[in-house]
Amino acid sequence: MSFLGGRRLRRMRQTEWSRAMMRETELLPRDLIWPLFVIEGQNERTAIRTMPGVERLSVDLMVEAAKAARDAGIPALAIFPNTPDHLRSENGAEAYNPDNLMCRALAAIKAAVPEIGLIADVALDEYSSDGQDGLVRDGVILNDETIAAMVKSALVQARAGADIIAPSDMMDGRVAAIRDALDAEGFEHVQIMSYAAKYASCFYGPFREAVGSGSRLRGDKRTYQMDYANSDEALREIAQDIEEGADSIMVKPGLPYLDIIRRAKDAFNVPIYAYQVSGEYAMIELAGAAGAINRDAAVLESLWAFKRAGANGILTYYALEMARKLGR
Ligand code: PBG
Repeated sequence: MSFLGGRRLRRMRQTEWSRAMMRETELLPRDLIWPLFVIEGQNERTAIRTMPGVERLSVDLMVEAAKAARDAGIPALAIFPNTPDHLRSENGAEAYNPDNLMCRALAAIKAAVPEIGLIADVALDEYSSDGQDGLVRDGVILNDETIAAMVKSALVQARAGADIIAPSDMMDGRVAAIRDALDAEGFEHVQIMSYAAKYASCFYGPFREAVGSGSRLRGDKRTYQMDYANSDEALREIAQDIEEGADSIMVKPGLPYLDIIRRAKDAFNVPIYAYQVSGEYAMIELAGAAGAINRDAAVLESLWAFKRAGANGILTYYALEMARKLGR
């Protein structure tokens, strides 16, 4: 039989060795960044109902988790605090308390595991009484006032040992303001990983339970997070953050936004990270538990898809498990 000049694409898929030889991308432990939730207490771990298998950890246990991550070849951790209720306030001032839970976690991990990178999320939702990422007055998110608070928050985090400041609030101009402030304080070496293309997404639901902001949130975040109908707008956001001084950028959520990762990869020459967010994790876990899909296969396939799309790395709740498996 002769068709298309006798070209048979299946010819190269016949054997394991041939499939290995033609494989285009790799998934390695160093691709995986591990998000962790910190809580107050000593030897304390609490379950998150919507994220089976993920626990909030007290600082001492988080140090142990950091050691395990380092030993598995994970390059960096992304830390998120579950701020005690009595410290949440309208202006989220706990965000720039130098002794807040986040800073204590950063300092403890830095002291015990200096080899691992520490990514600090900067946004007010983890500290404010209304669960919004910005300061609110009469129902309106105040851009520039929020930036002033974010700058203060980034500085206490840098002083505590953060290697990478990751603003996730989507206010305009925050990257430039944080860069200026870091440089002025002698933190030229601290990187900024900007959540540049962050969509207003239902897939953050379980995360909001994890940090305790979900039940507080009134309304939505659509005046600052992006409309999922748009893709050109993501390129404008990314271009602006790079101009303002972002060292690397993030696209979030992950799997439903692979097209954005690929467009960003083709358009910009900076490292790009994808965040496989809490709702994506929950979907795989719950579908796996229901016997609808093979859970382990789904984890691997979903992570690999990010590499194929062009991501340099992936923030994923599967990081430790997968780094251990891939490293063998
Ligand atoms: C905001 C922030 C969110 C996530 C990371 N940083 C939630 C939000 O924007 O509402 C979500 C991550 C996830 O869902 O896993 N500080």
